[in-house]
This record gives sequence, structure tokens and C-alpha cells, in this order.
Amino acid sequence: MHARNFSVVAALVLSAGIGSASADTAPRIDVVASPTVAVHPPGAAIASAHFLATQAGEEVLAQGGNAFDAAVAVAATLGVVEPESSGIGGGGFFLLHDGKTGKDVFVDARETAPQSVDAHKYLGADGKLDHDKALDGPLAAGIPGEPAGLAWVAKHYGKLSLKQDLAPAIRIARDGFPVYPRMVDELTERHDVMQRWPATRAIFQPQGKPLAVGDIFKQPELADTLQTLADKGADGFYHGAVAQQIVAAINVAGGDWRLDDLAGYQVRIRDPLRLKYHGWDIVTAPPPSSGGVALAEMLNILSAWDLPKLAAATRVHLIVEAMRRAYRDRTFFLGDPDFVKDMPLARLTSQAYADGLRKGIALDKATPSSSLPGAPPPKVGNHTTHLSIIDAQGNYVAATLTVNTAYGSGLVAAGTGVLLNNEMDDFALQAGVPNAYGVTGYDANAPKPGKRPLSSMSPTFMIGPDRVAVLGTPGGSRIITMVLLGILGFDEGLTPQQVVSLPRFHHQYLPDEISIEPGALSADVVKQLEAMGHKVTTRSSTWGNMQAVEWNRSENTLSAGSDPRNPVGKAQVVLAGGKQ
Ligand code: GLY
Repeated sequence: MHARNFSVVAALVLSAGIGSASADTAPRIDVVASPTVAVHPPGAAIASAHFLATQAGEEVLAQGGNAFDAAVAVAATLGVVEPESSGIGGGGFFLLHDGKTGKDVFVDARETAPQSVDAHKYLGADGKLDHDKALDGPLAAGIPGEPAGLAWVAKHYGKLSLKQDLAPAIRIARDGFPVYPRMVDELTERHDVMQRWPATRAIFQPQGKPLAVGDIFKQPELADTLQTLADKGADGFYHGAVAQQIVAAINVAGGDWRLDDLAGYQVRIRDPLRLKYHGWDIVTAPPPSSGGVALAEMLNILSAWDLPKLAAATRVHLIVEAMRRAYRDRTFFLGDPDFVKDMPLARLTSQAYADGLRKGIALDKATPSSSLPGAPPPKVGNHTTHLSIIDAQGNYVAATLTVNTAYGSGLVAAGTGVLLNNEMDDFALQAGVPNAYGVTGYDANAPKPGKRPLSSMSPTFMIGPDRVAVLGTPGGSRIITMVLLGILGFDEGLTPQQVVSLPRFHHQYLPDEISIEPGALSADVVKQLEAMGHKVTTRSSTWGNMQAVEWNRSENTLSAGSDPRNPVGKAQVVLAGGKQ
């Protein structure tokens, strides 16, 4: 039975006197040695936000590629089929686990500010932050990082060539794919901005008409740009004709990029942030993401309670109090570690700090945010995308990729098909003044040439004694609380599909309210929370698009879950030896 895949490790539970004590009086017994677990997964599992992207991953695995090749194929294809969420005009984070060496690596392919960045350019005539400049058009865009990220992952970790990994994305860009409702909804929302530039109109309003569900959407220029990237590697994007066209497009539209901005772009290879929660080793995103630090703070606070055993309202209350405190801290101190050298990471992620915060939490009473020492509210947004993969060699990838808000800046660089991001809005562009999403500025996240804006993206691994889970989601500042609820769900033994389907609630310090998805909490639980002093606001829509895969090493099975909130076909797959 699966003998090939198992190492024989004796299961050993030691207990002095366990047989003589009743269940109630027995001392807590910890498992002190690993149960028998598989060494290699029985196959592969992929979850992404679109079935064509997941199929692209299957295609390169079938050609002998590994999880890293599949991640490049899935990420590049997501950029083609979900232009509203990510693409080679944007950036992202790839969290990699190498099954052979056991090493975890965080590939930071976040966008950077151009050399010409100047916060004053984002102000209107009245001296106030002009949200249009921050979100739409040439000033909104950062130097893209995703092309460099794709090339780096393929070169250093893939078994196939970048050309093989990008082939499915190129084919789909050239041949087209059917437009789906979310694409049209977001286009309608961004209609005004997508009108402004001829190259954007030519692609997103072919024949002068808005795209409709079921139309076949082709992007031949993007296919050519991807082909150049495939043929020449990162240089094909950051040097030569593509780079020249991108710089020209930005500058014609009123921005100020130089060829050096692109030529100088480098991914940063960072140590992931690690923390422990119950028996899990959690490997997640370090700065310039705020996700890992906030997750550490929340999980360290929550680790003292046996959450599944608590009454529903108490459980939500305590999780919310942990969220409130972590979100108070999350953007106050954090920024790009290449620029901000004095981030108190050790303190914020320490158990002692969390123990101190926990002491301020009453079990039955909300802490008004106004009573905590101040920090501004973080940003909320709902675009971006995520993929989670495990392969038969025990490699894992969690990657979250983005152009920031829907369709990024709305500016396509003429001749390239590249839709540029609006990641500059993730900087604190004006100190002390909330931006469109309520984020207020800090020095740590002030824009500077070459600097990466603070992110919430939190690709995460959970490594337990007998289970490995890979998860992540889009959703702006809500990413972090969704990943928190996902971690708690896996810890309670839920399957990936159950985890991604969990009802969501969120607190981000300010506004001082628990925001819930429709129906996420029962009327009775809401009443009890209100009696504790919480304000509960039901949002009109759901949020997030979580993708998760799990390897159960005891059973040696794989499973995958794709968020039911945003289905675009069957986007989760288990290839041999698993369940879905
Ligand atoms: N642009 C979304 C994020 O990085 O958090």
C-alpha cells in the first residue's frame, strides 16, 4: 500500500498514566513523534482562479514540468484570461518550497516606483490627493515585476524552458477565450478609464463595442510580447523594443519613465516569514507584504484559546479582537525592507508582544478601536489573483499576482498588449491623508525611486506533522483576514474546498466594525456580538477568491479547493491519488 511513497517512521505516543485517568482529568498528552507519513505526494494538485490557467498548469506537468513550471504557466495564463486581476504589466509574490532541499524561497516580483516619482504629482490644484492620478493612467503605474518573476522562477526552479512554460499563455492570448461575466462587470465599472487611451480601446472595445459575455477575446499583441519574453527571457521585456514601447506609451500619456527604470528592475529573493501555530509551521509573506507580520500577530494572540470549543459569538469576538490589534499595527511600521531598515519585525511577531496584547482583550466586551493607540485604516480592494500547486516531487507554490484594482491603470502600452498596473496607489502618496480606500500615509510606505509599495498579498504554506496546505487569495487588505480564517479552518481539520468556502468576516481597526459577507453569521451571533459592543455591518457582496490545495501525508492523498464565489469553470484539479 503506497509503499513507494512512505518512509517508515514509528508512531509513538508516550503517556505516563494515561490509562488510569478519566478523559476529563487526564493531563494533556502531546504526540511526541511523527505518525507514519508519506514522503512524496501521489500526484499533483492545482487550484487557480480560471479553468484555462489550471489546464495550462496540467499541460506543462504532462510535459515533465514540475510545480514551478506549472506556476509559471498558470500565472502567465491568469494574466491573459483575467486581465482585470493580474498580468505581465503588474507584479506579485511567489512562495516556493523545493521538495528536494526542503528550502522555502520568497520571490518578490512586486512593482517598483520609477526614478521620477514625486508625491506632489499626485496632488490636485487644491493640494489634495487626486485619486484619479493615483489610480488611473501613467502616474498610477509602477515598473512591472511579473515578467522578471516568471523568468526567475522558470530559470532557477523549473525543469522546462521558459518557452515551454509560456506556450499555453501565448496560445490562449493568440487564439482567444470566451469572455465571462466577471470580466464584463469589471469592464463596465472601469468603462470611463478604459475609454481614455486608443490602445486600450482597441483591445477592450474591438469594433468599437464593449466586450460581451461569450465573445472570443483575442490579444495578438500580448501574445507577441509574451513570445518575446519566452524567446529572450526577462531581457525581452525589460530591454529592447518592448521596453521602448512601454516607456513611450507612459510618456505620451503624460508620465515620466526612462529605459533605465525597466532595465534596472530586479526581483528580490527574500527569506519567508515563519511562525508557529499549534502544531503547524507557517511559512508566509515577509515585507514588503504586511500579511505575514499581521498573521503572526493574530495567530500568536489566538494561540492561547481552543477556538473550536468556544461558543460561536465568543469565537468570532476573539478573532475580531486579534484582527483589530494586528491591523492597527500592520501599516504603521511596514514598508519595503530595502528602504525601511528599522522595522520592529522581531517585536511585532513575538509571542511576548502578542501575550501583552491579549491581556487587553475582554472575553465578553469589544475594545473600541478609539481606545487603542492610534494608527490609520488600511486599504480595501478586491482584485488580484492567486494560484496554489503541489507536485509529485513534494514541491509547493503559492503565488499571489496583481495589477492592483480592476484592469490596473487602464493604460495599455500601444504595440505591446501590456495593460499596466496601478500599484502606485499602494504607496502612501500623501502623508496623513486617506486615499481612495481609506489608507493613510506613513513614512515607511512613502514613495521613493525604486521602492516597492506595501502589499497585503499573503501566499502561505502550512506544514503540519501529517498535512501540508498551500493557500492564498486576492482581496486587498481583506487578504490577511481571509488567510487567517483559512489557517484556522485547516487547523480545525477542514478540507481545502471547505476552507475556501468558509463564510468571511473582517475587522481592520478602522472603521471600527465587523464587516461580514451576507449570511456569514447567524442573527443570534450578530445579536450577541452587538451586546458585547461590536458594530456588525453586512456587506452587499462577498469578497475574495481563495485557492487552496492540501497533501494529507497520513493518507497520502491530495485535494484541491477553488473559491465558489468567483467560479470560472472547474479551476481545481487533482492529478492522480486524490480527491476534489
Ligand atoms: N495591490 C494589492 C496588494 O498588493 O495588496
